[in-house]
Order: sequence, then structure tokens, then C-alpha cells
Amino acid sequence: MKRTFVLVVFCLLLVGSIEHASTQKLEGLFCPVFTPLNSEYQVNVSVIPDYAKYLKDKGVDGVVVAANIPESSNLSVREKKELLDAWVAASKPLGLKVMLQVGGVPSPDIIELVRYAVSKDADGILALPPPFYSPETPEDFTRYIEFLTCCSGGLPIYYDNVIANPNIAALFIMAPYFERASNEVENFKGMRGSFRDAMLITSEAKIRSDQEFFLNKHLAVAGAMYMGFNSYITPILNFLPELIREIRNYSNSGDSDAASETQDRLNHITSLVMQQGDSIAALKAATELTSGISLGGMRAPHPALSNRDITEIKEILNDNDIEYIEQ
Ligand SMILES: *[C@@H]1O[C@H](CO)[C@@H](O)[C@H](O)[C@H]1NC(C)=O
Ligand SMILES: *[C@@H]1O[C@H](CO)[C@@H](O)[C@H](O)[C@H]1NC(C)=O
Ligand SMILES: *[C@@H]1O[C@H](CO)[C@@H](O)[C@H](O)[C@H]1NC(C)=O
Repeated sequence: MKRTFVLVVFCLLLVGSIEHASTQKLEGLFCPVFTPLNSEYQVNVSVIPDYAKYLKDKGVDGVVVAANIPESSNLSVREKKELLDAWVAASKPLGLKVMLQVGGVPSPDIIELVRYAVSKDADGILALPPPFYSPETPEDFTRYIEFLTCCSGGLPIYYDNVIANPNIAALFIMAPYFERASNEVENFKGMRGSFRDAMLITSEAKIRSDQEFFLNKHLAVAGAMYMGFNSYITPILNFLPELIREIRNYSNSGDSDAASETQDRLNHITSLVMQQGDSIAALKAATELTSGISLGGMRAPHPALSNRDITEIKEILNDNDIEYIEQ
């Protein structure tokens, strides 16, 4: 009798701990990190420990590897694995979470990347759809999410609803898509999308308490916060994450004027920077300046920034009192 009781308690504890592991929620500021390249445009992971430290010091909660589409679209599976290795090694000791973006590539490669993320003890998976495929019904969408669970070992799965490239995902994931996948796939833990996507979904479907919506833009932090959205996966987290945190602080303390001034400042600086040449290359260069970490340029077909673009970016930082380290 006593032994049975002990066994039951043990089983309950075990179930409790398993449940805990699989329901640990990812939320907050997840930085889609840039790929450090050397002067021959080859991946150079040696700066990743410093990069992780820089993000941690700025108050970021986690990183997403291979999430910046213009950069990750020209990275091999081998290079993504190499990047994940380096990010896991650098991030875990700092308490930063790590997600791997696995989609945008043929399905066999998606599976290989999901398996790799599991083997490296990553914290989650973000997935664009495969190339040239857009789920056209809630069933299609659910099947894709289900496909990702094939070998994900219970890792949380997030869908990346990028619509900038119509060949990648010409689809707004509306409420019925989200709802169906949520009902049928336990490990579907949320998505990344626009504020509009977030509103469309929550107007009809319920986001479970173990799910999270990651906003892909930083343009209205206080407004989004008011609507209950506080998590981000946006490239500007490489550059000025502290301003997002400041806006939230002002907003929390009821100082909406200061929140809106800081938002204007953030939007103004990032929009000026992103007008200098290729927008993502410009953000990468601006991040090099604020972090002092050498990240390199971008692979073709993305055009390199000119010296003039870099000078302009420095001027924008100077004019807006953003400190930077001369490269
Ligand atoms: C990688 O970067 C480090 C630090 O910038 C540098 O010392 C090293 O030579 C680079 N390695 C390659 C292969 O470019
Ligand atoms: C925001 O507030 C928190 C808690 O008060 C504080 O630790 C943090 O430094 C503040 N961050 C910024 C960027 O103002
Ligand atoms: C992709 O990366 C390779 C390797 O760095 C580079 O040679 C090539 O120009 C890049 N662009 C395209 C479109 O393949």
C-alpha cells in the first residue's frame, strides 16, 4: 500500500516535471541575430561570444538564429548548424534562450535542421514555410505545423508569417488557421507576425496562455503593450533594444508622453539608418558601430554598403546621440 502511494507520488512528480519542461513559455525580446562574415563573406563564429554578451547587457531575452531572411537565404544547412552550435555555447551560460529558424528551405533540410535543434538542446523552432509553398487552407497550415513536430521532440514551434516575399508566404494567417493548428498541435506555441496579424487573430481566436505572439516590427510598442503584446522578434533588437525597453518602462509608469517621444526617436533613427543602401545591410552596419563587434557585410545578391553609406550612418548616430565605437 505504502509502496503504491510512493509510486503514485513519484509518477505525479514525473508528470509534473515533464509538463513543466514542455510548457516553459518563450516570451520577451528575441533578437534575430546577424550572421558574422569575414572579408571573404565566410561565416566566422569567433565573435559570437562577444555578440551574445552585448545582447545580454542590452536586456535581450533570447536570440533567433538564421531568421533574417536576406541573410539566411544564402546560408547552407551546414553553416546554419555551425551558427547554432556557436550561439548555444555562448548563450546558455548567459541565460539567453536560443531559437533556430528552420524554414524557407526544402523539406528534407527543414527536418535535418529541426533534428539538429533538438540535439543541441535549443529552446524553440521558428519556421517560415518551405520555398514556393503557401498553405491555402487552415488544414494545409495545420499539416505544415504538424510536419514540423515529426522530430521536434516537444520543442515549442512558432510560425513566421513573413509576407514581404510573396513566394515565401503570400498569406495572412487569420484566426481559423491559428485556431485549427492550436487545437490540433500541442507544440504549436505561437507565431511571429505584424501587429495587424495579431489583432486579426485575437479578434476571433484565442491565444492560449502557453502561446505567444511575437511582433515583427517595433513601430508602436506602447500601443501593442496596451493590447497585451510584449514580445518581439525584430532585427532592430540588434541595434537599439534599450529603446524598446525604455518605452515599456515609461508606459508602465504611466508616462505616455515620454513613451511616445521615445517611440518617435526609435522610429526616426531606424528609418533614417535603413534608408542608407540595402536596409538590412545598413542595420547590420549600425549594429557593428553600436556593439563594436565586427559582423562583416552581406553576401550577394545584397549590395555592399558604400563608404558614403557608412559615413551617413555614423552621422545619423551622432546627430541622435547614439554612442558608437569607431571600427
Ligand atoms: C574570424 O574573426 C576573428 C576576429 O575578428 C579573426 O581574428 C579571425 O582571423 C577570423 N577568421 C577567419 C577565418 O576569417
Ligand atoms: C526599465 O526598468 C527596469 C526595472 O525598473 C530596469 O531594470 C531597467 O534598467 C529599465 N530599462 C531601461 C532601458 O530603462
Ligand atoms: C551566396 O553565397 C556564396 C558564398 O559566399 C557567394 O559566392 C554567392 O555570391 C552568394 N550569392 C548567391 C546569389 O549565391
